[in-house]
Amino acid sequence: MTNEKVLVIGACGQLGTELVDSLRGIYGEGNVIASDIKKSEHEVFSTGIFEDLDILDVNRLGEIINKYKPTQVYHLAALLSATAEKNPEFGWKLNMEGLFHVLNAARDTGIIHKIYWPSSIAAFGPNTERFNTPQYGTMDPTTIYGISKLAGELYTQYYYNRWGIDTRSLRYPGLIGYKSAPGGGTTDYAVAIYHDALTKGHHDCFLKPGTTLPMLYMPDALKATLDIMHAPAEQIKIRTSYNLAGMSFAPEEIAAAIEKQVDGFTISYEPDYRQAIADSWPAVIDDSRAQEDWGWKPAYDLDSMTADMLANLKPMYSAKK
Ligand code: SER
Repeated sequence: MTNEKVLVIGACGQLGTELVDSLRGIYGEGNVIASDIKKSEHEVFSTGIFEDLDILDVNRLGEIINKYKPTQVYHLAALLSATAEKNPEFGWKLNMEGLFHVLNAARDTGIIHKIYWPSSIAAFGPNTERFNTPQYGTMDPTTIYGISKLAGELYTQYYYNRWGIDTRSLRYPGLIGYKSAPGGGTTDYAVAIYHDALTKGHHDCFLKPGTTLPMLYMPDALKATLDIMHAPAEQIKIRTSYNLAGMSFAPEEIAAAIEKQVDGFTISYEPDYRQAIADSWPAVIDDSRAQEDWGWKPAYDLDSMTADMLANLKPMYSAKK
């Protein structure tokens, strides 16, 4: 693995921040190039290589590829569901052109041989089977983010079939972690609720009770991402994107799990435009292909995630007092 050089695009986002840390542990600090439009102040970026990169600037991407000769790219830069709805033209432009720049760089330079690109449960839509959502079924996304994810899945598969680029992808559920903040998703309430529980003892939820969505705890998300990237190529039988599941819950269920550990915690509901987005997404994902093809198995459920989130957030807040 030491001959590998890894470029992470969108390194300062919720997933990127944690992934950079894990990748440095695997490949060595000097072999992981973190890049983003703006460097975050997170402690992860106080050491290691960082390059400014707006993924819409194809010349800048070319400079970075020439400088470091990355063999692998994790391309994570995107506008998420809620943010993209506020500016659909830009959401489409960033999500699609950014992906084309990475795919074309792999095809045209021959330097990058493997690409990780995340898809999402947002690639499904209102006519998708909501429970045990199958790998192959109706996909009729209604958000610009979901449309860009479905198109992106087909594009990455196209580059695999046509030019032999080793593209790999997961359809992430909502990601929950304590080390980095999410940015503009519909599932973000499930992160904010833990912070609110410890700071205010109350969370005002932008989704209504009964809105069951698929979610995944960050350590599981990191494991899945690294597992699919490290699996032998012949085990990756799906080149669009794999269904991936961890747990599923509605706001009142995560509130109940928190209440067991935070005395007096309360929740209220004030649904906004994100309710319609959540209503168009699946509730429970069937990820049996990921289990069969490359051995996927999550470790966390709602209670064990809640215990871990609270145990890690508590010292952060008591240190600030
Ligand atoms: N967490 C994402 C969002 O809510 C889903 O991919 O936009």
